[in-house]
Amino acid sequence: MQEIKFYSGENIPLELHKVRVVQKLHLVPIERRLEALQEGGFNTFRLNTKDVFLDMLTDSGTNAMSDNQMAAMMQADDAYAGSQSFYRLQEAVQDVLGKKYYLPVHQGRAAENIISNAYVRKGSVVPMNYHFTTAMAHITQYGGKIVELLYDEAYVINSSHPFKGNMNLEKLEEVIKIHGPKNIPFIRMEASTNLIGGQPFSVQNLRDVRAIADKYNIRLVLDASLIGENAFLVKQREDEFKEASLGDILKTMTDLADLVYFSARKLSSSRGGGMCTDSLEIYRELEALVPLFEGFLTYGGMSVREMEAMTVGLYETLDESIICQSPAYIKYLVDALDAKGVPVIKPAGVLGVHLNAMEICEHISQKEYPAGSLAAALFLISGIRGMERGSVSNQRDEYGNETYADMELLRLAIPRRVFTLSQIKYVEDRVTWLYENRKLIGGLRFYYEPPVLRFFMGGLEPVNDWPEQLVAKFKEDFGESL
Ligand code: F0G
Repeated sequence: MQEIKFYSGENIPLELHKVRVVQKLHLVPIERRLEALQEGGFNTFRLNTKDVFLDMLTDSGTNAMSDNQMAAMMQADDAYAGSQSFYRLQEAVQDVLGKKYYLPVHQGRAAENIISNAYVRKGSVVPMNYHFTTAMAHITQYGGKIVELLYDEAYVINSSHPFKGNMNLEKLEEVIKIHGPKNIPFIRMEASTNLIGGQPFSVQNLRDVRAIADKYNIRLVLDASLIGENAFLVKQREDEFKEASLGDILKTMTDLADLVYFSARKLSSSRGGGMCTDSLEIYRELEALVPLFEGFLTYGGMSVREMEAMTVGLYETLDESIICQSPAYIKYLVDALDAKGVPVIKPAGVLGVHLNAMEICEHISQKEYPAGSLAAALFLISGIRGMERGSVSNQRDEYGNETYADMELLRLAIPRRVFTLSQIKYVEDRVTWLYENRKLIGGLRFYYEPPVLRFFMGGLEPVNDWPEQLVAKFKEDFGESL
């Protein structure tokens, strides 16, 4: 990546795109934001975007599309079976991910459902570097269990370790020996491990995992939803790949997996998803499930327009000037917050900036959901919508007991090419204010808790009148400002 220096010496992430289609945002008064929280059960998933100023909930389906993606959508071929749009997409999967067989699905979790349906049975154990909510939910739905095998440094918030997403190889062998290879349908590696702060694994680590998978004859499944960014960080942080192209790094990684699946909502700045493999046997094992759950094999629940956007988006994943933008903004915001003493996950990863709620809200016990509380408080004082990635996002164990997350994070996603630098500076400003007033944030409790993936639609309420107190302090400091 060509570095662009400023004469002033300032370190500014310069945008390598121009904005040609825009959408109006709404910054509503704090009183309305409080009402919106009350209506939405203090759960940022349940907010209506008419009340949201900066939507940093996720990068999923919210990355900006390119002019070429939009243009391609106009040339889609509508057909139930044999659409030309599908064959173009299949070719893009072969070119970019290097796999011969492609099975389309409507989004990432649909692939997780199909893979779990095909391979997970009662008593199965799936080792992984770390879980993702939907991956875990599907594995447990089919009677399996997951084991997370990161190294200790992955849980260190203030770290400079370049590859916190690496799988712990010693523990992997140990788990295989304890449970026996027969009970392990696959090993799952997640690129840019989402829930520990968008942290990559190294290619070398993936090679080592492959060697263990081969030794015990276990399938290796790669969740490639965030593989573009993982490849970008490999190029920056792993010496062997300094001079390699993103395309070569990406294929080096996918080559090591038996089965690759992804959410195209992330990977290709589109919608949709897919699974791909070079193994005809694996293809056949999954093939029949696609028409059952998703749709015919040449659309898999996607519209033909989505498929065209995905095709172009996949090729664009190889363009460093596109892939560098979100990580560069993330690094900018992490550095700025860190300089002000706000606890954030370091090193800066991908997907978003992750605030350490365990430390910011150390006065709130995990029973009262510090990360959920911080998410609600930040929305209240700024209109910025982040996502709770802590105990609210955890699921209860098989006996119905609450399980507390290893980390209590508030994730502020920075989708590709969506925000401007002044908006990022607004985030820095409001997060800093909230950090200085953190003692005013209080806890939450559930009044409505769905049995599966409770964080999506669950309803919570504050344990006392802390939101009103926070509003009063905001008014004191900001007057009539929004
Ligand atoms: N795997 C990873 C690593 C993900 O981050 C996601 C989604 C999925 C699978 C599921 O894909 O949403 O298309 O069904 N992550 C989103 C997020 C929801 O906000 O991080 P999906």
